[in-house]
Amino acid sequence: MKILICGKGGSGKSTISVLIAKSLKNRGYKVLLMDADESNLGLHRLMGVTSSVSLMDTLGGKKGAKDKMVKLFTKGKTPVPFANEKWKISDIPDECTMDINGIRMLIIGKIHRFGEGCACSMGFVSKTFLSNLEVGDDEMVIVDTEAGIEHFGRRVEEGCDMVLGVTDPTYESFMLAKKIEEMAQNAGAAVFFLLNKVDDAVEDIMSAHIDMEKVIAKLPKDHTIFMDSLEGRELKTELPEIDQVCKFLEDFK
Ligand SMILES: Nc1ncnc2c1ncn2[C@@H]1O[C@H](COP(=O)(O)OP(=O)(O)O)[C@@H](O)[C@H]1O
Ligand SMILES: [Mg+2]
Repeated sequence: MKILICGKGGSGKSTISVLIAKSLKNRGYKVLLMDADESNLGLHRLMGVTSSVSLMDTLGGKKGAKDKMVKLFTKGKTPVPFANEKWKISDIPDECTMDINGIRMLIIGKIHRFGEGCACSMGFVSKTFLSNLEVGDDEMVIVDTEAGIEHFGRRVEEGCDMVLGVTDPTYESFMLAKKIEEMAQNAGAAVFFLLNKVDDAVEDIMSAHIDMEKVIAKLPKDHTIFMDSLEGRELKTELPEIDQVCKFLEDFK
């Protein structure tokens, strides 16, 4: 199953992507954690590693990335035509991914330099990559996206089985949730929400703004999570609400 995590900047997408990936791995799944956020540098840090490899780096940059990808991705020794052939997680070359404690992590690419142009080619790679990726019953793909809804414009969600919107206690997040629901439905993707950073003071307000039938779990505001990410440490917190999310994903499959 391929799950796209989306929401406002700072709502907790990366945090939740890591917590879900770890929990699914502990439940016995082979997990591919995909970082499709071209701007933020932090996902692998939340996984506990400081250096990273990205697909774009492996391909030597954005220029000609599509053609190079065709050569790099092979079935046996035959290159896989990038835009129209299906592949499996096991077809992804090892040099494009990192193995972090049994979780395979794939970083699509980052904007590194002033004036290097927009991230559209990376968006194309994310979309094509995901739509052609065939996922087995014992595999889960978690895709952490950039803030907002640009990936909908690039139709990345069409390659996914589910869109999970992360909503934090801000009015902007409530507005975005409506947009996410509408756009995911237009794309024919199943859409559900996670309320994040919930405490007694905001729970009722959040519940009043979000379609509660689509809410899988309410994640508490957690000081350890906050401090770990502040210090750039690995996230190790285990929350019963994340188990609840994983159980839901398992049942949904
Ligand atoms: N449940 C939570 N409790 C406390 N802080 C949280 C929680 N979820 C996320 N955060 C904090 O919110 C900030 C943004 O989280 P992050 O996952 O980077 O968001 P995004 O990827 O959506 O931009 C970080 O400081 C993170 O530690
Ligand atoms: Mg993030």
